Parts: sequence; C-alpha cells; structure tokens
Amino acid sequence: MEKLLNFFPVEASTGAVAVDKLFFFLIAVAGTIVLLVGGLIVGFSWRYRRSAQNERPPLPEWLSRDIEIGWTVATFFAFLFIFWWAASLKLATLDQPKHAVRIHVIAKQWMWKAEHGNGIREINELHVPVGRNILVSLNSQDVIHSFYVPAFRVKRDVVPGYTEQIWFKPDRPGRYELLCAEFCGTGHSRMRGDVIVMSAQDYAAWTKSAPNRDNLVREGADLFRSYGCAGCHQGAEPGKAPGLAGLYNSTVHLADGRTVTADDSYIRDSIMFSNQDVVAGFNPIMPSYKGRISDNELRRLLAYIKSLSEKR
Ligand code: CUA
Repeated sequence: MEKLLNFFPVEASTGAVAVDKLFFFLIAVAGTIVLLVGGLIVGFSWRYRRSAQNERPPLPEWLSRDIEIGWTVATFFAFLFIFWWAASLKLATLDQPKHAVRIHVIAKQWMWKAEHGNGIREINELHVPVGRNILVSLNSQDVIHSFYVPAFRVKRDVVPGYTEQIWFKPDRPGRYELLCAEFCGTGHSRMRGDVIVMSAQDYAAWTKSAPNRDNLVREGADLFRSYGCAGCHQGAEPGKAPGLAGLYNSTVHLADGRTVTADDSYIRDSIMFSNQDVVAGFNPIMPSYKGRISDNELRRLLAYIKSLSEKR
C-alpha cells in the first residue's frame, strides 16, 4: 500500500494499520457512490436531453416502492456498521494497556519535554522501544497544544489543568515526526520533534547512556516530607488519612459510594482538589494543593507514591 501511495504517511504502529483499514474502506465506499451517482447524472442527462425522443412512462410499482424501502434499510445498516467499526477502534484507544512503558510529556510554548519513568529527560525527542505498548501522559504548562504523531495515527489535545493519556505500539524502528496540531501561538509551527523507535537492544543501550538522569522517586520522597504529607499519610495517627502503600492502580471506595481506580489522574486530583473524591471512612480535612504545587513537583510526588506500590 505504501509503495502505491507514496505521499501517504508510513504506518509505524499497530493502531495505524487498523485506522488505515477503516480509512480505505470509507474511501472505497464513498468513491463507489460518487461514481454511481455521477454516472447516473451523465447517463440521464444524455438519455433525456431536450432533443431526445425517449418516452417517460410512470415508474413501475416495484421500483418506486420496494427499491426505495430496500435502499433506505440497507443504508441504515451500512451506517450502523461503519459506526460500530469506527467506535470500536476509538474505544480500543481509550482502553489503556496494563503493561506499558510510561512516559510523561509536557507541552509548553513551544516545545515537547519528555520525562521517562527512570528519570531520563529529553526535549523535542522521544525515545521508545519497538513492539512495546507506550503510554504517554500529557500535560500542558500554558495553552492548549495537541500531541500528534502521523505515523502512529495518534492525536490528542493537551488542555492545561488536565492529564491526558494516549498510547500506541510502534512496530517498526525509525524516526517519526512529532507535531503540535493545535495553533498555540507564534511558535506553533516550530513546535515539533521526533519519536525515535529503537530495537530492544538499542533502547537498553540508550537508557544506560542517556544524560539528564535524575531520581524522581527520591525527589518525590523529599517533597512528601517538606509539604507535610508524611505527617498524616505515614504518621502515628493512622485514622487521620488513608495509607498510600499499595494504593497505585488499586480500587478505592469513596465516601459517596462510588469506586474508582487509583490511577495517575485520580492521585493527581486527590492532591489538587483534595475535598472531592474523599475515601470512605475519612473526613475531608486535607488542604487543597492547587496553586501551591507545581507540575514538576506533582510528578515527583506521583513517582514517589507509585514507588510505594512496587514490589522490592
Ligand atoms: Cu503547541 Cu501548536
């Protein structure tokens, strides 16, 4: 397909193949209908042109009734089928993989800053291993940006104040464009980078040699103490606040009867908007940290809280 359509972006992830199948199917259906309707227009224009002597008898019953009902029903089911196909593709992208390489990407005017789980940081470059699920969580520091990798057929708006998640599974090594797809100021067109997909060995070597390492978990632990979180969440009064060991990705029962999964955005919201989603059995006494804690610090705290759930 790629050789046939050279201008078409390369398919470099498993999702890209699935999206393209739907795309080409829609193009084929639309093309068929365009040819059919166009052909009929030309045909009828010729057959019933002014000088033509062709007769115009009334339509036979079967044509005006049965055919009319038939194509209306057929179109209905065809659209249902297309809806089902497109919706299930979309839902598959919302369903996050359990095992994934997690990367945090921050969008700001006008660059992409990436922070890997092991503390490696990079700017306008994103190194990922081939054949693994990559789960990217996205934050913006200023305005709305949009994380767009055409070769993976993924695009997600990054809205300030929200953590967006996106995932893909690259299946061929190479260097692919990363673009911002939302006009975000005068430097918007320069806000681009590369996703570098590497074999497992190359990725391991890169991880070892990469500069800009820092220890997110250790810095998070320091913040945990300096912000006073430890006093309630680890302190001598266990009834005051829920413990955090084993919290990450566990099921949490809330005071209002709902249950949620303690994922990144839940923990983030619990820190920023501490009196919503209160855990059952506890009072909403924790102060809100909105405006008091930076995105940088929040990610370090998250890394620390996650580390409390890892087996050592
Ligand atoms: Cu960021 Cu356009």
